[in-house]
Amino acid sequence: MNILAIESSCDETSAAVVKNGTQVLSNVIASQAAMHNVTGGVVPEVAAREHVVKIMPVIEKALEEAGIELAKIDAIAVTYGPGLGVALVIGTSVANMLALVMQKPLIPVKHIHGHVYAPWLDSKKAVQFPVLSLSVSGGHNELFLMKDHMEFQVLGETADDAAGEAFDKVARMIGLGYPGGPVVEAAARKGDPDAFPFPKASFSDGRLDFSFSGLKTAVMYHLEKNKTRLADKQFLADTAASFQKAVIDALASKVFLALRTYEGVREVHVTGGVSANAALRAAVEKGLKAWNTEMGSNVAFRTPAKLSYCTDNAAMIGAAAYFQYMLDKESYHVFKYVGPKAAF
Ligand code: KG4
Ligand code: ZN
Repeated sequence: MNILAIESSCDETSAAVVKNGTQVLSNVIASQAAMHNVTGGVVPEVAAREHVVKIMPVIEKALEEAGIELAKIDAIAVTYGPGLGVALVIGTSVANMLALVMQKPLIPVKHIHGHVYAPWLDSKKAVQFPVLSLSVSGGHNELFLMKDHMEFQVLGETADDAAGEAFDKVARMIGLGYPGGPVVEAAARKGDPDAFPFPKASFSDGRLDFSFSGLKTAVMYHLEKNKTRLADKQFLADTAASFQKAVIDALASKVFLALRTYEGVREVHVTGGVSANAALRAAVEKGLKAWNTEMGSNVAFRTPAKLSYCTDNAAMIGAAAYFQYMLDKESYHVFKYVGPKAAF
């Protein structure tokens, strides 16, 4: 089954053709990052206008790269939320129109479900449930237990900022631009993660929720206190490395606390824009190896196969759409317009 998937929830206009939820035939992404770098963040109105200009060429390119005509597509999938309302309107409008004109099933997908399904893309070995899935982005931060397809038991979520948002804010504070994740990670590589003891960004009472606003404030006070060192590259690298370590410790410690609490997990997944971070992947992978040795278990570790499947992209929407469709095929053959939903 070939699904044409569309994603326009934030600042990436993306279209993909995905076969049977795993095989990526194309995944075209037009990023607006350079444009939003000027303002240090996404301006919704600017993002929306750019989606209008890019969406049809991106869809045409996705079909062309996949070598499939629109008429041969089996279903259309689209992100309907959460995200920027004015940006979601563009993707959902085009998806409604295509599905109606081409008489194809229309599958509305939640953006976060797309992220969670990114590890299915290009996967050679079948995923084994139960899966413990940590999904970390600029807009959300969740820990799910999945006992089967499309079953998302929320074990923990963020009480305030998402980890990616903290990366973006810290990057702005130290003058590194947008998006913050990749630039903070690059700076952190040259720094000492133990230089500054920032507070571990989480609750300490055994809850699996996350909190990053305290850490963000701690970095702000630290920079204010060290005003005279802001031009010192090593100081900034040490700050980036210490901040990144605090975020990773908070995320990884919840994964292992959840593993202790919920027995029988067979795979641990880390997804979302922040899963592009090599240090985060390495920390969870290393921890899991130690866990498997200690428990005599064989819990597998997966992240999206490509970095382009970590940050926003339409292929992940095509993956989630397929498994969603398989659970309730008939319902998608009765046409229903899909409206954007900015928040859930
Ligand atoms: O999933 P995504 O593309 O969009 C949302 O759904 O929010 O995630 C974007 C977030 C941004 O906050 C960005 O700074 C962060 O992911 N990010 C990273 C890295 N690459 C992107 N964070 C840490 N390290 C990275 N290498
Ligand atoms: Zn996202």
